[in-house]
Amino acid sequence: MGYRVAVVGATGAVGREMLQTLAERNFPADKVHAVASARSAGREVSFGEDEVLTVSSLDKFDFSEVDIALFSAGGATSKDVAPRAGEAGCIVIDNSSAFRMDADVPLIVPEVNADAVDGALPANGGRNIIANPNCSTAQLVVALKPLHDAYGVKRVVVSTYQAVSGAGKGGMDELFNQTRGIYVNEPARPEQFTKQIAFNAIPHIDVFMDDGFTKEEWKMTVETKKILDPAIDLVAHCVRIPVFIGHSEAVFIETDKPIDENAARDLLRNAPGVTVIDHRANEGYVTPHECAGEDAVFISRLRSDPSVENGLVFWCVSDNLRKGAALNSVQIAELVAARGMSGR
Ligand code: A2P
Repeated sequence: MGYRVAVVGATGAVGREMLQTLAERNFPADKVHAVASARSAGREVSFGEDEVLTVSSLDKFDFSEVDIALFSAGGATSKDVAPRAGEAGCIVIDNSSAFRMDADVPLIVPEVNADAVDGALPANGGRNIIANPNCSTAQLVVALKPLHDAYGVKRVVVSTYQAVSGAGKGGMDELFNQTRGIYVNEPARPEQFTKQIAFNAIPHIDVFMDDGFTKEEWKMTVETKKILDPAIDLVAHCVRIPVFIGHSEAVFIETDKPIDENAARDLLRNAPGVTVIDHRANEGYVTPHECAGEDAVFISRLRSDPSVENGLVFWCVSDNLRKGAALNSVQIAELVAARGMSGR
């Protein structure tokens, strides 16, 4: 028997990618519902190459009729609706930050902490809610996991270069319209972003916190601890750049054990979800432009860090709509299915 699945936020940048990914990976679904706001009810969205789904309004949607719901309709919608969906026996896989740090909600990256998923079930103290991490954290922990297992990662310093699609389809539209407008001398009018994003870099993602870090930076620290190891210290600096799809990260790690750059490269080559492209030559590395539409977390520019005793530096790039959001959510749904989990 297949699963009855709903994608909530199906008209958005991540929701569309969720539908695409479910179809591409042949998720064992008997029925897939596309759900969005009342504004979109009755519209059609693609499901795979040749199917279209008619969008249902979230207001009227009955979660007791589905087994798994993938949510990507913003934190406020998740906070409001996901607990009710869970109580109705539907397993919610939530892409927002609403529940990520709740003790009774597992935060899952399947390559890293698949076993924690069982904690979502009410019988194990859960609420039928599983959280998907922040996009920058997801790709980072996939790269850190094999290095942590082999060398013990103590500290991570990470600078991000994040695509506008991380802010949804509104962010993508803003980059497109500003870029076009600048060529015809129209003034740039920031709406989604705090400053002009076209031809610029903005060192500010999500709100400021009391200590001067932004919430995006805080999320990378606390989510890495929850998913991988609370003992890892991580400091992040997050920047939005005028790229449509693909988050990039410059990562500096310090480890307990001596770390050899060649051994680390071999280890990463064999790690699940990772592709190493590292040729120390023109074109011998991956850029966000090339990772769009791909599933892997790409690692390039690996080298030893001579400024610390045991250190490694690398460049990590991934499609933020895929591994950072839709793919990771669908992989969690696959885990739920493989384990025969049921919220009822
Ligand atoms: P809609 O298109 O009907 O507004 P993005 O992050 O790319 O902006 O997409 C957000 C997604 O979340 C869209 O599918 C959007 O639907 C959906 N969404 C936003 N607010 C609500 C809401 N209050 N109820 C249901 N869906 C919502």
